[in-house]
Amino acid sequence: MNPKIAVAGKGGVGKTTIAGALARVFAMEGHSVIAIDADPAMNLHFSLGIERNPEPLSDMKDLIMERTSLDNGLFKLNPKVDDIVENYGIQKGNVVLLVMGTVRRGGGGCTCPENAFLRALLRHIFRRDTTVVMDCEAGIEHLGRGTARGVDIMLIVVEPSVKAVETATRIKSLGCEIGIRKFAAVLNKVMDTDINAITERISEAEIPIIGVIPQDNAILRAEIKGKAPFDASPSFVERVKMLKNRIEMLLQ
Ligand SMILES: Nc1ncnc2c1ncn2[C@@H]1O[C@H](COP(=O)(O)OP(=O)(O)OP(=O)(O)O)[C@@H](O)[C@H]1O
Ligand SMILES: [Mg+2]
Repeated sequence: MNPKIAVAGKGGVGKTTIAGALARVFAMEGHSVIAIDADPAMNLHFSLGIERNPEPLSDMKDLIMERTSLDNGLFKLNPKVDDIVENYGIQKGNVVLLVMGTVRRGGGGCTCPENAFLRALLRHIFRRDTTVVMDCEAGIEHLGRGTARGVDIMLIVVEPSVKAVETATRIKSLGCEIGIRKFAAVLNKVMDTDINAITERISEAEIPIIGVIPQDNAILRAEIKGKAPFDASPSFVERVKMLKNRIEMLLQ
């Protein structure tokens, strides 16, 4: 099974940290993985342990024009995209990183060459026989653009705060609207305090909690050094392995 996973949640909850580690756990276990950085902040490469970003796809104006333009001044909605991962991603081990960059704003119906190109690319990637982990932009706005349309599961990262749960609930309802059928939550940055009130709220939203990751100083120390938490915290890696197993169970 090659799951297509989008990682979403409120700002700062740990999406990029978890998305990068999840991609690496799948890669470690033999999957070939496409990691998609769909956040304009473009920092997924750190948690993947990849030194630099590839050129963001949204900046490749010439390529996009070449692939999308038609003679009559209109543009193609189904441009050739099947070589993009191989030619424009950066590979490390079993992981290829693609960076989407800054996509022009607009609703789901926004049609411009950049959006047509990126949409066609994502459609292609989500149909490939490859595991995909996509790091989404914080919050809910990206759901309106439908970036994650076509994933098998949306993993919602929640920190122990009512605000994070509220965002998770909205992500689920908007995710349903774009046709995503499976949702799961991972509770991150959990401290020794009582989190029953939070887990109850998540359960009320009917989002199964499939993982709990403690607040981990090794992750923060790695951050200071610009290192991937995956390479700095064995206990974090163990938690992410469990998360991977639960995702696979949910998708069986
Ligand atoms: N389990 C954890 N323990 C301690 N620190 C953590 C943990 N998970 C993430 N962090 C830290 O929290 C901060 C935010 O993490 P990260 O960048 O992954 O969040 P994000 O949800 O992707 O943020 P953004 O919304 O800005 O994209 C980082 O400094 C990261 O090192
Ligand atoms: Mg992030």
